[in-house]
Amino acid sequence: MEKICFIVAMRAEVKPFIEEYGMVEEPGFFAPLPCQLYKAEKNGCQLFVVLNGQQHGSDLVGCEAASVATNVAIQRLDPDIIVNSGTCGGFRSEGAEIAKVFIGNGAMFHDRRVPGDDEWSTQSIGNYSVWEGSAEMAASLGFSMGKVTTGSSLDMQPCDLEVIKANGGQLKDMEGAAIGFVASLYGKPVLYIKSVTDLCDGGAETIEEFRRNLHAASLALREADRRVIEYLSGL
Ligand code: ADE
Repeated sequence: MEKICFIVAMRAEVKPFIEEYGMVEEPGFFAPLPCQLYKAEKNGCQLFVVLNGQQHGSDLVGCEAASVATNVAIQRLDPDIIVNSGTCGGFRSEGAEIAKVFIGNGAMFHDRRVPGDDEWSTQSIGNYSVWEGSAEMAASLGFSMGKVTTGSSLDMQPCDLEVIKANGGQLKDMEGAAIGFVASLYGKPVLYIKSVTDLCDGGAETIEEFRRNLHAASLALREADRRVIEYLSGL
């Protein structure tokens, strides 16, 4: 693969990675959108990081910003693969631990409630597929896999958990399925790399656990990103 594009929500998640690769920002590349582009070359590959950007003084997390970033990244950069690298909540009951990194084996929404058992409810869940080489890569690099489940909130309501459990969700985030949705419109493959900051079934306050573990999870993410790039650049 020659052009690899990482889509990332938060600066803290990608800072160690940008530093490791000496990535350089191209200011204003996506103006007037807030998305930010960082570039580097590695093993003959063009590496891009597209951050959602900031508004009102904080990083833009969530589905809307991730959709905008994915859309403009594909249109302007035409990458061979989209890599959504970020943090997530995990379930201890599904083998999650703080700062453990998973590769996604699918992506779904858990908070788009449309009752019924027809095409509308199917669409609301999403169920986007991942890059076809994900499982082989995860096995070869020794990563566990999990299904990414996306919603617009950091907390988890009982109705979210019900949908997550009914559909096999395992890694709770706020962007993955939105990125999968946009990529599916273009037929672009998506690879998910997710590092756990908090345990959805651990009993701790999510936001505090998230803040406490963000740096450790981001360091684990950098190491995983590095190994994934080595792998992808050899394909
Ligand atoms: N990102 C990190 N932890 C999360 C959680 N528990 N829910 C949604 N997004 C997250």
